[in-house]
Parts: sequence; structure tokens; C-alpha cells
Amino acid sequence: MTTRLGIIGLGQMGEAIAKGLLNSSLKKDFEISGTTRSKESAADSKKVLGIQCHTDNRKLTESSDVLVLAVKPHQAHETLDQIQDLLTPKHLIVSICASITTDQLQTWSGGRCAIIRAMPNTPCLIGAGMTALCVGPNAQDKNITLASRLFESLGRTLVLDEALFDGVTGLSGCGPAYVYLMIEALSDAGVTVGISREKSTLLAAQTMMGAAKMVLEQGRHPAALKDEVTTPAGCTIDGLMALEEGRLRATLIRAVRRAARKSKLLRLQG
Ligand SMILES: NC(=O)c1ccc[n+]([C@@H]2O[C@H](COP(=O)([O-])OP(=O)(O)OC[C@H]3O[C@@H](n4cnc5c(N)ncnc54)[C@H](OP(=O)(O)O)[C@@H]3O)[C@@H](O)[C@H]2O)c1
Repeated sequence: MTTRLGIIGLGQMGEAIAKGLLNSSLKKDFEISGTTRSKESAADSKKVLGIQCHTDNRKLTESSDVLVLAVKPHQAHETLDQIQDLLTPKHLIVSICASITTDQLQTWSGGRCAIIRAMPNTPCLIGAGMTALCVGPNAQDKNITLASRLFESLGRTLVLDEALFDGVTGLSGCGPAYVYLMIEALSDAGVTVGISREKSTLLAAQTMMGAAKMVLEQGRHPAALKDEVTTPAGCTIDGLMALEEGRLRATLIRAVRRAARKSKLLRLQG
């Protein structure tokens, strides 16, 4: 049986979700359509995705079983207000709106439908994303299975308690920016030792990706992998010493904690 999936907000992330599904083996299981706020964006999305796309959220709600809420966080309340009376216990809402809680979603959606909150990150745009999911009001196992399948077409997923979502925001949500900074710095380093910018960036980015894949695919502790590349009295240990002097580890930990704190603050300020 095909699931009728409506994406409210075919912007950067909404389009990525649609593209991920359309390019995956799940395509046959979903009938996808979506909305934007303006007619121009709807026409653009329709051209890019080749799916039904318009600006009528009420029509989308009536023709969908699952609604992905992918508008900006400040637009979520107003958007759910538009469709609240049409939502039934048969609907599942999957919200990707940063900092909007399942309690808020439940209140704004009228409390009848099932709710799941997701926190994806931008590498979802190329199928290498990390999405954390949490189970909200009325959601059953089949709902979380469906939401997980949906985001697995864009990368990896993890189901976590909502209380950890500020931390998730600070780690995997903001994380791509930290990694870009590290790639840029490593690339600068390559330039200082005489390698061209283009080649330095390739060396840095591929190294970052390869090391991440080693951790993910071998499932070993990163410290064990680090030890394997660290020959006694060799070059790597001297490089690592410099990183310790620069307090790289403490700085990264502080970055995640500070971003998580800001996420909490923004959430509490509404
Ligand atoms: N980008 C990220 O890295 C990232 C990561 C995690 C979570 N998120 C979350 O994803 C959500 C979307 O972010 P984004 O970067 O994709 O934003 P975006 O590119 O600005 O897209 C927002 C989309 O929502 C549409 N929209 C606004 N109001 C609407 C309404 N009432 N009905 C239907 N469509 C409406 C907009 O249409 P128009 O173009 O016509 O205005 C636009 O297509 C945000 O809540 C954000 O917190 C984003």
C-alpha cells in the first residue's frame, strides 16, 4: 500500500527529503506531493521534482496520510493553525522544525494526530545526513518505523529521547559547520607547506571523510584507530601533541555544549 506523503514547505530541506525518497528504492511506496507559500516557489519545485506542488495546505492535508512539516520554525504555528481542524488520528506529522517541541506541535495541531520530531542536518542534501528522531504524542511503533525509513533515504537515523534534542542540535545539527572549519584549517595548513589550495582541500576533505568512514564501518573506538596511525617517535604523535597544546578536544566539547545551551535558550524564549 502506498503512503500519501505531503511535504509542507518544499524549501531546501523539504526538497531534499522529496529528492531522497524519489531517488531511493522507497519511491514506489510513497506518493509525494507538497506545498510552498508562494506560487512561484511551487512552480519551481514542481519543475525540479516532477511532483504535484501547490500552495494549498488544506488540500494537501486532505490528500495525505503523513505530513512532513518543513517550514521555518517561526512559521510552524501559523501553518498548523491553517490545517488543525482537518487533522485526524489517522494523520502522522513529522516535524523537522528546529527547536519546536512535540508538546508545541501537539497543541498547535489540535492533539488528535500522531507526532514525531526529527532533527536532520544539511548533508541530507547529498544522502549523507544524520537525523535524530523522537517519538511524540500518539505516535506508535509503526509511525517511528515509517519516519526512520523516510530519513534513512537521506543518510543515517537514530531514535533518541526528546530531552537530548538540544544536545543533538549542538552536535549533529551544527556539526557540519565545525567540520567545514576543520577542513578549511587543514587546507590552510596544506597551503603553508606548499600544496595548492585545490589539492589541499581535497587532501583535507577526503581524509576527514575516510576517517569518519573507518569509525562508522569498523565500529571501533576512535582512540584505537588513532593509536594505529601513531608510530612511536613518528610524525603523527608530534602532530597530536600540537593539537593537545591547542586544546582541540576541550574546544570541540565546549563548542557542542555552547551550541546546545543556545538551542535551549532559543527554545525557552519561543
Ligand atoms: N537547513 C538545515 O540545515 C536544517 C537542518 C535541520 C532542520 N532544519 C529545519 O528545516 C526547516 C526548513 O528549513 P529550510 O532551510 O529548508 O528552509 P527554507 O529553505 O526557507 O524553506 C522553507 C519553505 O517553507 C515554505 N513555506 C513557508 N510557509 C509556508 C506555508 N504556510 N505553507 C507551505 N509552505 C510554506 C517556503 O515557501 P516559499 O519559498 O514560497 O516562501 C519554503 O519553501 C526549518 O524549520 C529548519 O529549522 C533545517
